[in-house]
Amino acid sequence: MADEIVIAVDGPSGVGKSTVSRGVARHFRLGHLDTGALYRAATLAVLESGVDRDDAEAVTEVVRGIDLDQADGETRLNGADVSRAIRSEAVTSAVSEVSAIEEVRHVLVEMQRRWVFEHGNRAVVEGRDIGSVVFPDADLKVYLTADPDERARRRSGEAGTDHGTTRAAIERRDAFDSTRAVSPLTVAEGAVVIDTTHLTLPEVVDLVIAEASLV
Ligand code: DC
Repeated sequence: MADEIVIAVDGPSGVGKSTVSRGVARHFRLGHLDTGALYRAATLAVLESGVDRDDAEAVTEVVRGIDLDQADGETRLNGADVSRAIRSEAVTSAVSEVSAIEEVRHVLVEMQRRWVFEHGNRAVVEGRDIGSVVFPDADLKVYLTADPDERARRRSGEAGTDHGTTRAAIERRDAFDSTRAVSPLTVAEGAVVIDTTHLTLPEVVDLVIAEASLV
């Protein structure tokens, strides 16, 4: 494997991106960047600031002014560990809206590229637009899918909510993320598509490791 390697992992909510990306990063000793957590932390900052969420300029100003980082599995907002706070219901229901703002995406995309550069261009980066926009020249692009029922099962296990509610929330967020004007969730050109519905996540990790070993 080359010294510098960027692996892009995209896909909808609840498909297992974080578990798979973490496993692959650990195997190859690469950095792991969860960009969904960054959009969530930016959303938390917007909620805490009290600005009107319909005011795209004000929201962008807040996002420009924050310091975001990820290290040791923690997401940090202005130096504080917000890993738990960004999973709250308030953040989950506002994040699609905040991440649909073009300028917010510019700020966070630049941050993501800088993070990877500072980690020696050795990273697994997960999100929705990594292979299509953030790293279109990634060494390996993976797109994970799974049927919505299976994704809801994986998420309800995580969040402790019931299946029907989780499935409805997942489908609402996916529909929004896939149809937004800026950087919608899409299969990037050249991506390896893996349907994980009938696979365990360790099996998916092994498949991605096998693909990455070829680059
Ligand atoms: O992966 P997640 O559920 O934590 O992501 C939270 C939200 O962030 C999701 O609704 C879409 C958005 N997101 C995005 O727009 N672009 C990314 N690269 C990652 C996440």
